[in-house]
Amino acid sequence: MTHAIITDLANRYTAKRYDATKRISQDDLDVIYEAIRLSASSINSQPWKFIVIESDAAKQRMHDTFANKFQFNQPHIKSASHIVLFAHNPHYTRDDYAKVVDKGIEDGRTPKEQREAAFGGFAFVDLNTDETGDNSKWTKSQTYLALGNTLHVLARLGIDSTTMEGIDSELIGEIFKDELDGYECNVALAMGYHHQEEDYNASLPKSRLALEDVLKVL
Ligand SMILES: Cc1cc2nc3c(=O)[nH]c(=O)nc-3n(C[C@H](O)[C@H](O)[C@H](O)COP(=O)(O)O)c2cc1C
Repeated sequence: MTHAIITDLANRYTAKRYDATKRISQDDLDVIYEAIRLSASSINSQPWKFIVIESDAAKQRMHDTFANKFQFNQPHIKSASHIVLFAHNPHYTRDDYAKVVDKGIEDGRTPKEQREAAFGGFAFVDLNTDETGDNSKWTKSQTYLALGNTLHVLARLGIDSTTMEGIDSELIGEIFKDELDGYECNVALAMGYHHQEEDYNASLPKSRLALEDVLKVL
């Protein structure tokens, strides 16, 4: 019998057209948001911000970010139920990590007297920071863990989604300047329910390279 995890992952796919009449329930949204929050990241850095586009006004602003390019993704903005912007902090600092360390103390994970020692992990950030203080490659990588986690959770919930790197990061940076507060968004995720007739991707078979081409057990 196929394991439920494999069934979920085999059934999920990238939706290409959404049914604008269907909305994700608040119960499911609560699960999705908590799953996003629980995502793993290097040294528990959590150098991210997730902006959920839910209201018609926010959807209009997101729609407007497709003025210049990637218009093939634009239809999802108003027809999908929600869109999540996965944003990263391009200049993650020791002060940012201090919030993580102090939350670790508050959560009872790190004893108060070991606060200084808890900064040891920050060496990983230094290794990934250039002379201008830019560590965006590293922080952006962390957001993809949250993205992958979200895709799996959506599959479990039977909710369709479309990952979109086809977004105009610059225009998003301008139109959502206040909310991003210096963070950058290079990937977004539309979530909702596919259109029964118009989603040409829904009935196509899943296609992946063969296991022996991508995985070797030593
Ligand atoms: C990082 C990333 C970026 C993607 N960007 C887009 C996109 O901009 N538009 C789109 O329609 N699909 C996009 N996709 C969907 C991929 O093409 C799709 O996941 C891949 O072909 C595998 O198919 P499946 O998701 O249906 O299993 C993206 C997927 C990932 C993981």
